[in-house]
This record gives sequence, C-alpha cells and structure tokens, in this order.
Amino acid sequence: MSAADWTAVDDYLVGALQPDDPALAQALADSDAAGLPKIAVAPNQGKLLMLLAQSVGARRILEIGTLGGYSTIWLARALPADGRLVSLEYEAKHAEVARKNIARAGFGAQVEVRVGRGVDLLAGVEGPIDFSFIDADKASNPDYFQGALKLSRPGSLIVVDNVVRQGAALNPNGDANVQGIRRMFELVAAEPRVSATAVQTVGSKGWDGFCLIRVER
Ligand code: SAH
Ligand code: DHB
Ligand code: MG
Repeated sequence: MSAADWTAVDDYLVGALQPDDPALAQALADSDAAGLPKIAVAPNQGKLLMLLAQSVGARRILEIGTLGGYSTIWLARALPADGRLVSLEYEAKHAEVARKNIARAGFGAQVEVRVGRGVDLLAGVEGPIDFSFIDADKASNPDYFQGALKLSRPGSLIVVDNVVRQGAALNPNGDANVQGIRRMFELVAAEPRVSATAVQTVGSKGWDGFCLIRVER
C-alpha cells in the first residue's frame, strides 16, 4: 500500500460518511489563497476531533495551533450554545485568516483566537478546560501537555496531533520536533493523573498519529 492508496481510501471514507461542507471547503480555499501551509487535519480527522469533544461533553475547548481555523471549526461544532473555544496561534497572519473563516462558519462569538507564543499564552487561559487539542510547534509539546493538564479537570481529554511524523518519532536523536514528541511521551508516562495511548494513522495526511490523554484526577 502506498500514500496514493491511503488518500484514495480517505476520499472514499469521507465521501461515504461526510456530506459536502461549504464552510470548511471555503476555510481551506481561503487558507490556500492566503498562502498558509496545507497542514490542517484531514476531514475525517477533523470530524474525529468533533466527535471526541462531543463525547466528553466539552463546554470549554483549548486549541494550540490555529493555522486557518479548519480544526477550530470542527471543534467549535462540538460546543453547546454557551460553550467557548480559545485557540492560540503564533502567526498574526494565520490568526487573521482563521478569524474570518471561523466567523463565516458561524462561530465568531464563541471562538477567540489569541496571538503569541503558545507557552506564553497558556498562562492567561482560564480553566477548567474539558478538551484540549495540541497541534502547534512540536518542540513545545512537553510544555503544552503540562499546560493543558494544569487547565484540565477529571474527565478532560487532551489530544495531540502529529506524534508519529512518518516514523521520525522512533529516532531518539531526531530533530527538535521529535525530541518534543518523545519528551512529551515521557512526561505523560510518568504522570499518575493521566491515562494515555497513541495510535498511528495513514490517510490523505500521510503516515502520522494521535496521542489521546485522559485526565483521571
Ligand atoms: N490545528 C490546525 C493546524 C495547525 S498547524 C488544523 O489542523 O487546522 C500548526 C500551527 O501552529 C501553525 O499555524 C503555526 O503558525 C502555529 N505555531 C507554530 N509555533 C507556534 C507557537 N510557538 N505558538 C503557537 N502557535 C504556533
Ligand atoms: C506539520 C504540522 C502539522 O500540525 C501537521 O498536521 C502536519 C505537518 C508540519 O509542521 O510539517
Ligand atoms: Mg497537525
């Protein structure tokens, strides 16, 4: 099986289960037009995030790494009418594109995109947070995990994107991103308050994986 096969299967699965989605299609189109990198989660991954957030009854969601707001819109769809989402983004241009996409999708009042370094902005996020999605610079994953944990309550879920990186996570001498992923796994494993697993994924985003961390107490 090749990457082309994984993409063909993803196209089939999304076509079978997910109707055309104008708000999300427009968010991707505007992100492309603004020159943002094409690294948003896939449509089936976005819906997985929404379903997970719904399953924990999330009313307060934290995202680290907004890009053009594609995953943000999926997560905002999980919220009840009085729910709130805060998304942290380093690049002012990404945040500007995201805010427009989020507003067009109908979540301008519920979602706040804050601009700055994720590690700095975390200090100002108000908890408790029911669901966190960590998807920014992977080198900072240890700090993001610890920050999200601090904001969590028992039953909260923390999901981390890109923890496999085409197998690069295997390399103990990998780059700063790989070091961040591996150090985060060590912190998660040593943290008695959480229960965690990681799963590999293939699809239109290539070969990667998610880490799922449930806060138990
Ligand atoms: N969650 C998005 C994709 C995020 S891509 C989606 O799936 O739709 C990663 C994002 O993290 C980029 O927009 C990048 O600018 C941002 N980023 C990189 N370093 C960061 C930092 N130190 N703090 C916050 N965001 C950062
Ligand atoms: C990259 C970042 C992501 O969040 C992602 O899902 C895929 C790729 C990257 O920085 O290359
Ligand atoms: Mg990602």
